[in-house]
Amino acid sequence: MSSTQTIENAEFQDSSCAAPGKQGDIQPFPKQVLSSLMCPSCSGDLEVHQSWLCCSTCDTKYPVKDGVPLLARKGTAYTWKNEESMLIETSEAYQEQYQGIDEARDYNLAYKNKFEKRLSTKREFKLLNQLLKSQGISKTILDLPCGGGRLSPQIAAHTELLIEADIAEGQVLYGRRTMLLPTLQFWMTASAFHIPFKDESIDAVVCCRLNHHLPTEIERERLIRELLRVARRFVVMTFFDHKSLKNRLRQMRQPFNGKPPKMTMTVDRVRELAKESGAQLKACPLLARFSSGHRYALMVKSRG
Ligand SMILES: C[S@@+](CC[C@H](N)C(=O)[O-])C[C@H]1O[C@@H](n2cnc3c(N)ncnc32)[C@H](O)[C@@H]1O
Ligand SMILES: [Zn+2]
Repeated sequence: MSSTQTIENAEFQDSSCAAPGKQGDIQPFPKQVLSSLMCPSCSGDLEVHQSWLCCSTCDTKYPVKDGVPLLARKGTAYTWKNEESMLIETSEAYQEQYQGIDEARDYNLAYKNKFEKRLSTKREFKLLNQLLKSQGISKTILDLPCGGGRLSPQIAAHTELLIEADIAEGQVLYGRRTMLLPTLQFWMTASAFHIPFKDESIDAVVCCRLNHHLPTEIERERLIRELLRVARRFVVMTFFDHKSLKNRLRQMRQPFNGKPPKMTMTVDRVRELAKESGAQLKACPLLARFSSGHRYALMVKSRG
């Protein structure tokens, strides 16, 4: 690429030419990504340069490292809401947790090595497969946050292009290095509060194990609205069910063990938020009936 071009006009490699890359390889931009990207600060169009993207509206520049666009707009409720929300507890520190590749590696190895985690991952694979299969093959799925790609093989089986994004550069680098699949993959950084894709530009969005790390209702609800804004067909999102047995037991024990409350949502609230964004909550299975409070919500857009 030579001089400045808008993304729509950019002559990037066709997705069929784009083999999954190792770190250090330049990652080509698939056309579907180019036509869907937007500025995470102002929603403006992005101009494509060799090693950065530039917003044609607000002029913000975003670096592109080895072809990996760094489009994560960090920060929490003060970036989209009133100033009051700056005073309460937020997930801002959590956004920084896996920026380094070593922290990312430790997180991902824990899932491979700990028996309990291996068991729950097996159950998660099964649930994800069932829910994704029910919606047929997609052209594009965004896995946000992808972490180090723990769920990538399961998601990739249901799409032609898998976009893998996380707020943490370390997770994205680790995943890109270790999770090469036969399906076309594209790696980038992004915040789930400011997803750098246009409205309904991606077939489906999968968001696992982020909602229950968000300490405020403002963040949890923002997350659901953003996922549904970007998804054309459906969203799969996990959350911790407020009314689950697991959470009720935790609440009962709290006066004795002092453990902090879980960050939860009710199924009814998830259903309401889906409806507000033109989607229906079609399924919401628990990861495990007695031993887990995590639910997998499948929200399908009702297209008129
Ligand atoms: C528990 S991990 C889950 C990763 C993956 N979905 C999985 O199930 O293995 C949560 C991830 O969320 C990322 N994260 C935290 N805040 C985020 C935000 N606002 N937007 C996108 N990713 C975020 C973290 O960097 C971390 O990789
Ligand atoms: Zn902008």
